[in-house]
Amino acid sequence: MSLLNILVAPDPRLKNKALPVEKVDSALSRLIDDMFETMYQAPGIGLAAPQVGVAKKVIVVDTAKKGEEAQPMALINPEILWLSEETSSYEEGCLSVPEHYAEVIRPARVRVRYQDRQGEIREIEADGLLSTVLQHEIDHLSGKLFVDYLSALKRGMILRKLEKAKKQAVRG
Ligand code: NI
Repeated sequence: MSLLNILVAPDPRLKNKALPVEKVDSALSRLIDDMFETMYQAPGIGLAAPQVGVAKKVIVVDTAKKGEEAQPMALINPEILWLSEETSSYEEGCLSVPEHYAEVIRPARVRVRYQDRQGEIREIEADGLLSTVLQHEIDHLSGKLFVDYLSALKRGMILRKLEKAKKQAVRG
């Protein structure tokens, strides 16, 4: 396994639409292993393939709390089937938007169809944090970041700060 480089916004590759996975093979399995390793090391509770520069519909999540048993989930070609009208709000962050957090209101519950690592089609219905994380990660597959839910003013402020930090890192 190896650690992958996580892209930081603003980056055009984070705005691209991901393509469906055609074949669940050993190369995909390796990508998923690397994504898990990268996510745990960050640490984060979700990671989408576009965040590591791979424009494919793959996400990994694990919302287990510290000290709890790991609950790794890899979702291939995830597709939202249903969203509740009831909403919930979480303070969200993103490994591609480091050190910035904001409240985002989303549907409280979600039903997702996806393929697992064996290529089997599965469905999951989630609420709470897992629902938010699934929606957040699936957004990445259509080039959407949580900052896109914020006001233009707030989003602009965050992206300018990230851009500035990147330039300083290159110089430093
Ligand atoms: Ni994210």
